[in-house]
Amino acid sequence: MSETQEYINGMRPGPLTREIPECMRDKYTVVQAIIDVIVFVIVGAGYVIQAIYRTIVGKPKKDLKGGVAVVTGGGGGLGSLIALRLARLGCTIVLWDINKQGLEDTVKLVKGIGGKCYGYVVDLASREDIYRVAKKVEEEVGKVNLLINNAGVVSGNYLLDTPDHLIQRTFDVNILAHFWTVKAFLPSMIENNDGHIVTIASMAGHVGVAKLVDYCSSKAAACGFDEALRLELETKGIKGVRTSLICPYFIRSTGMFEEVNSRFVPQLNSNEVADRIILAIRTNEPFALIPGYFRVLLPFKWIVPWPCISELIRGLVPDAVPVTPVTPTLPTPLPEVDLKRESRPMSLLPPVRPDRHV
Ligand SMILES: NC(=O)c1ccc[n+]([C@@H]2O[C@H](COP(=O)([O-])OP(=O)(O)OC[C@H]3O[C@@H](n4cnc5c(N)ncnc54)[C@H](O)[C@@H]3O)[C@@H](O)[C@H]2O)c1
Repeated sequence: MSETQEYINGMRPGPLTREIPECMRDKYTVVQAIIDVIVFVIVGAGYVIQAIYRTIVGKPKKDLKGGVAVVTGGGGGLGSLIALRLARLGCTIVLWDINKQGLEDTVKLVKGIGGKCYGYVVDLASREDIYRVAKKVEEEVGKVNLLINNAGVVSGNYLLDTPDHLIQRTFDVNILAHFWTVKAFLPSMIENNDGHIVTIASMAGHVGVAKLVDYCSSKAAACGFDEALRLELETKGIKGVRTSLICPYFIRSTGMFEEVNSRFVPQLNSNEVADRIILAIRTNEPFALIPGYFRVLLPFKWIVPWPCISELIRGLVPDAVPVTPVTPTLPTPLPEVDLKRESRPMSLLPPVRPDRHV
């Protein structure tokens, strides 16, 4: 059996590892495991006490002044609300969106409150576009220390009625773009030991919903992306770069799930969601489920029988997309696809939305 440098006969390396005689190694492994468990319980209890203390007393909020924040999908919806709040806190805002008009409107809004704001037209479904504009941003604006992967799309149809190119696009924008943006900006964050990567996922990343098969699976991937990335940074001992996962329920007035048929749990107010996201960033929260009581409800998913879960989800969200979007079939050969018109979420004129008061 080959033994790696790190693990010798299943034991962690330590000063005694090599000196322990073969006949004693099993015993040592058991003793080491017991010590590991005891240490874990003590350290874990410390973290729990610290979390309870911080919940009661409140967490210290970090100062975002002087930072450079990239907000993808910042040309409308939640992205523009987040941008306005970050500008108020003194960040320079860099908005990325495919929607030129939305970008211009949000840039005006941010400048209107005295913020510094730059808008870049980017197609997040294109890796080349992401890398190209990321380079441009670093040259023209400066090093980015806050990345908010917020842009998202939804096809909103039964799987068998969803054309392949829309499924592909959902994954391109909702998750693959996160890989490319993080690869573009993380190196300088690590270099400066200062950074924060925010993943706007969804409750749909934890719970499946009919007509949202591509959306739910892309959001589940986004949840996995955040957690694995956070662990990777911690494993590498990079303390200055944080990540936050944001999972909201359906939001009112952003455009994405405007007609959703949701019972019992009211749709969220977009301003309150934006406030919650800013709080999560400022307090380095690893994840925020919105509303918060879903933290208690979600684990039941793995405990109660599936028919209960199915009844509950179908009762809660009888129809996620009651008005089926018109999906044009793609003629061959592929033309320049008008991504904007084919996708549901595109919020065209963000500033005129009813609860866009910040
Ligand atoms: N609205 C909800 O109910 C809800 C619930 C949970 C999570 N979310 C998530 O919150 C985020 C923001 O959603 P929203 O409600 O503000 O939606 P929205 O449609 O209002 O905003 C999404 C933005 O992303 C941009 N975008 C879409 N495709 C793009 C592309 N290829 N390249 C560049 N930009 C592109 C759009 O132009 C738009 O400005 C999304 O990730 C969404 O999945 C929304």
